[in-house]
Amino acid sequence: MDSLDQVIADARAAFAAATQPAALENEKARFLGKTGSVTELLKGLGKLAPDERRAQGVRINAAKEAIEALLTERRRQLADAELDARLAQEAIDVTLPGRKRSAGGIHPVMRTWLRVEEIFASIGFDVADGPEIETDWHNFTALNNPENHPARSMQDTFYVDARDGEGKPLLLRTHTSPMQVRYARMHKPPIKVIAPGRTYRVDSDATHSPMFHQIEGLWIDENVSFADLKGVYTDFLHRFFETEDLQVRFRPSFFPFTEPSAEIDMMFTAGPNKGKWLEISGSGQVHPNVVRNFGLDPERYIGFAFGSGLERLTMLRYGVDDLRLFFDGDLRFLQQFN
Ligand code: FA5
Ligand code: MG
Repeated sequence: MDSLDQVIADARAAFAAATQPAALENEKARFLGKTGSVTELLKGLGKLAPDERRAQGVRINAAKEAIEALLTERRRQLADAELDARLAQEAIDVTLPGRKRSAGGIHPVMRTWLRVEEIFASIGFDVADGPEIETDWHNFTALNNPENHPARSMQDTFYVDARDGEGKPLLLRTHTSPMQVRYARMHKPPIKVIAPGRTYRVDSDATHSPMFHQIEGLWIDENVSFADLKGVYTDFLHRFFETEDLQVRFRPSFFPFTEPSAEIDMMFTAGPNKGKWLEISGSGQVHPNVVRNFGLDPERYIGFAFGSGLERLTMLRYGVDDLRLFFDGDLRFLQQFN
């Protein structure tokens, strides 16, 4: 074989043996680099006679082009192989089940909250919002709950490590009733408002949670009576439970801030507690001392208030026997409401 043909054959073999682009470039240098064999042959042309030089030059250049073509072809092969390997690695298995982003849902107690708001708003009640950290005055004293009065122990309280202007410790409100005072002191009668929100007590069993929700209602005008309380609240219950066939009782009770006072109980008509009574609300005619703390004349203004447990209403609506289920975060329980 002619020595040029041999160089081409060597290059073909060397390029084929290179399986990585970097190795291929090293092989290229061996043939076409500054000291590569083809370059050396070209350098040798100077020693030849002019006639021979031309003929040999043409042959060497043809060999050089052939080797460059081989190189280009091998580069393309290696690039294709690399792409194929990458595609195989990144292959998407279209038969895999899709990853679903599950839709969130509204918590059952929040459903009750929204529903109660909607019903009272539809009969002209304003909706107000207030602080969960309260002063002793708003939570107790303004509500005719004198300091050291035994009625305070009805609501065992969480205190906050901070004090109000009078040096009394701030507390987590034990009920939404302080909102009666806050709202009434900022509005003129007729006052017709509900105030839903979180409340806190040192309580824990199947019908009591340390954090729970109440909705306060207050209607004050020149002629609002206990009879109006019964009418408005019973009508609310009919709309909330979507039936008039309810077992409800107003049970005489005591609150320092109402006189007379009643607790409102309802009977479970479904679920494990069927036939049992559950207290849903405190209520009563607002005490004259409290009306005075509203900044109003109790000889002229009178009305009613109530404070209902949103968890309790939710328990009755869905027949749930333990309110702690609402706060466990068990999706199997919660998904039933969505
Ligand atoms: C009160 O909190 C009074 N502020 C209600 C009131 C307002 C009376 C206006 C008169 C006028 P009581 O402690 O009964 O009252 O609580 C009211 C309701 O909150 C209860 O009937 C119950 O439904 C709910 N409740 C009370 N404590 C808890 C608790 N720990 N967990 C869940 N719900 C509770
Ligand atoms: Mg009670």
